[in-house]
Amino acid sequence: MKVLGILGSPRIGGNSDVLLDQTLAGAREAGAEMEKIMLSQKKILGCLDCGKCNETGVCVIKDNMGEIHKKILEADAVIHSVPVYFWAMTSQMKAYLDRWCAFFDEQWNMQKAYRPKFKGKKIGLITVCGDSNVSTADPIVHSFKRTSEFAGLTWIGAVQASAGSKGEIARNEAVKRKAFDLGKEAATP
Ligand SMILES: Cc1cc2nc3c(=O)[nH]c(=O)nc-3n(C[C@H](O)[C@H](O)[C@H](O)COP(=O)(O)O)c2cc1C
Repeated sequence: MKVLGILGSPRIGGNSDVLLDQTLAGAREAGAEMEKIMLSQKKILGCLDCGKCNETGVCVIKDNMGEIHKKILEADAVIHSVPVYFWAMTSQMKAYLDRWCAFFDEQWNMQKAYRPKFKGKKIGLITVCGDSNVSTADPIVHSFKRTSEFAGLTWIGAVQASAGSKGEIARNEAVKRKAFDLGKEAATP
């Protein structure tokens, strides 16, 4: 099993990063191979809605999304981790997610060539918000869950956490355990 972790926070060592590491540790314990991608260290431009990928399944923009696109196709599970910025996901994560456009054809069906790669692929999410009410991140959960259904992926759930200062979440053993268990679930065939 290959588990891919996608970090949408620009704060390396921050709360979403700490929880994503927990998830990847859970996946490793379950025997998976794992890789983490930090979106803020990549160049990923926004979707242009040029429609070219509808025919080819490949985006015309030459940036780092091409290599990430291939890693998503090869992974058995993809876990995203992102903080709430103004009641939504970060711009890094949104630019990345919009580029999933290249997986679909003109009718918004999964490209034929990618269907076998997406079948059975798992997807999960970690959110962190400064608000003590973790449901502040519900719009992000909605976005990923609906995208997951739309792409025919297997949704394995969301871990929603609350923390403000950098790395503060490291003291929250209960949510770290949930993130770890999400990783184990991701790595279980
Ligand atoms: C630009 C910006 C906007 C934010 N907007 C919100 C918000 O709307 N709601 C909220 O609960 N927290 C908000 N936060 C707080 C972060 O979600 C919180 O600090 C989180 O722990 C950051 O996670 P990280 O350490 O993984 O980057 C915001 C932080 C920043 C920098």
